[in-house]
Amino acid sequence: MRVAVTGAAGRLGRALVDALGAAPFTGLSGPLAWTRAVFDLDHPASIADLLERDRPEVVVHAAAWTDVDGCAREPELAMRRNAEATRLLAEACAARGLDLVVVSTNEVFDGRRTDGFGYRPGDEPHPLNPYGLSKLAGEEAARRAYQALAGPAQVAIVRTAWLFGPGAPDFPSKILAAAERALASGEPLRVVADEWGNPTYVVDLAEAIVELLGSGEFAGTHHVVNALAATRADWARDVVARAGLGVEVVGVPGASWPRASSPPHWGVLEATPLPSGEPLRPWRDAMADYAPLLLRARAASR
Ligand SMILES: NC(=O)c1ccc[n+]([C@@H]2O[C@H](COP(=O)([O-])OP(=O)(O)OC[C@H]3O[C@@H](n4cnc5c(N)ncnc54)[C@H](OP(=O)(O)O)[C@@H]3O)[C@@H](O)[C@H]2O)c1
Repeated sequence: MRVAVTGAAGRLGRALVDALGAAPFTGLSGPLAWTRAVFDLDHPASIADLLERDRPEVVVHAAAWTDVDGCAREPELAMRRNAEATRLLAEACAARGLDLVVVSTNEVFDGRRTDGFGYRPGDEPHPLNPYGLSKLAGEEAARRAYQALAGPAQVAIVRTAWLFGPGAPDFPSKILAAAERALASGEPLRVVADEWGNPTYVVDLAEAIVELLGSGEFAGTHHVVNALAATRADWARDVVARAGLGVEVVGVPGASWPRASSPPHWGVLEATPLPSGEPLRPWRDAMADYAPLLLRARAASR
């Protein structure tokens, strides 16, 4: 199976390229890694030529403008990159009978849920910020592109949350740097305690997407996150403990951090079943795997 990955140099994109490279169904040549130089969301019309040139059978769309505050400052650009480019990609794939997986976000929900359950695929999306709006519009455009299709081509939306893993600074690496600064100044580390989500390891998410593709039947909306929810402050305490830093983490309300965008307070997704029936492991177990990489990268950056 020829699988192309957009955003192949991004955090999830790199994990996907690795996981697909190890999958039995991608053959010896492995996946097609489409970086921004190959497929740029600012020039999405190039997709038709790219599909003709590379002839994938499946496209996994991991590229997005993920700067949530940047999206809030420039909502029209967010729409062009996250919705319009996804629409063009989906229409081009659908017209050729190719399968498509669109990676989306927990931020399509407003987070006002108070019953303690995670959001399910059937729950009504209602984004609070321009990033969530642009990602939801991308989801809807992709579904529309496949709606009227008679053939067997399928589209999947894979929503996830709070990604961590190697690459550009992620939440754990920013917390590590902030904790070291706090230690040096003798101050506690203040971290938001009223924002909930599912920290999700890109390695686990990429393997789950490979599992979905390998099953051959993946149409529909999936919620793929590591098990158990956390606040940002819970996650920060986990990072600080793994680094062995004696810094106190003090929970503060999100309102004390002025931001261009408003994240959902309860951004928790309920994971949908994977073909194997095995849920992804709890996020702390995934953090245990990631911690050595995180700590080595931090030491190398000093
Ligand atoms: N990060 C999260 O916590 C999170 C949570 C839920 C869902 N998601 C979704 O998961 C997917 C992967 O996210 P990620 O964390 O791997 O993101 P990422 O590291 O920011 O990667 C996004 C990729 O998109 C590429 N891209 C192509 N054209 C672009 C353009 N014109 N402007 C900006 N970027 C462009 C980027 O290229 P460069 O490498 O050249 O910048 C980058 O490689 C996205 O669909 C995102 O919406 C992410």
